[in-house]
Amino acid sequence: MNPADTLSYIVGRRSLRAMEPGAKIPQEAVSRMLEAARWAPSCSNTQPWRFVVVQEPEAFQKALQALKPGNRTWAQHAGALIVLCANPADDYEMAGQPAYLFDCGLAAQNLMLQGVAEGLVMHPMAGWEEEPMRLAIGLPMPYRVVCVIAAGQTGKLENLPEDLQKREAGERVRKPLANLVYFDAWPNEG
Ligand SMILES: Cc1cc2nc3c(=O)[nH]c(=O)nc-3n(C[C@H](O)[C@H](O)[C@H](O)COP(=O)(O)O)c2cc1C
Repeated sequence: MNPADTLSYIVGRRSLRAMEPGAKIPQEAVSRMLEAARWAPSCSNTQPWRFVVVQEPEAFQKALQALKPGNRTWAQHAGALIVLCANPADDYEMAGQPAYLFDCGLAAQNLMLQGVAEGLVMHPMAGWEEEPMRLAIGLPMPYRVVCVIAAGQTGKLENLPEDLQKREAGERVRKPLANLVYFDAWPNEG
């Protein structure tokens, strides 16, 4: 991929929600997504990430129930819920701050970018209840759920409630670089 194509691929990724009910994810795609995640960088190569890929219908329903209702409305049509977990003790401190969540974020982005390259809808979620999710996937202590990612085949817009249809088609917003980036030093605001 040339630099411009890489950038437009990254910019083109979206957290879409319209997924095809009942459509499965090919096993090769799941394997490549997990492989992409595994090759993420991590602080001192700690690799704190663990993944529970929930696809089997009964297990899927259990994990689905642990999502917040707003996410359940569309994530019910996912082919897989990928539960990213980590043990907070698997950490390598970065200048006094924990690194494991940062590391997991890098792995999650690798996984989602590979998923998009597979032609899938990939949508990260913070909306889940931890204890129900722990029970649903049998997650032992001291592991924590870090993020849940819905992966699905692209579906029809009409499968979504009306408010989400508007968001699906709506324009994406980002803060301008001028508000985010300084060169050489933070500006003197005084
Ligand atoms: C950590 C994290 C948690 C998120 N949680 C949710 C969620 O619970 N439900 C949801 O619909 N979207 C969720 N999102 C998706 C964001 O709303 C979305 O990434 C953001 O609006 C930017 O849109 P884009 O990903 O299409 O660029 C989450 C995203 C991240 C990174």
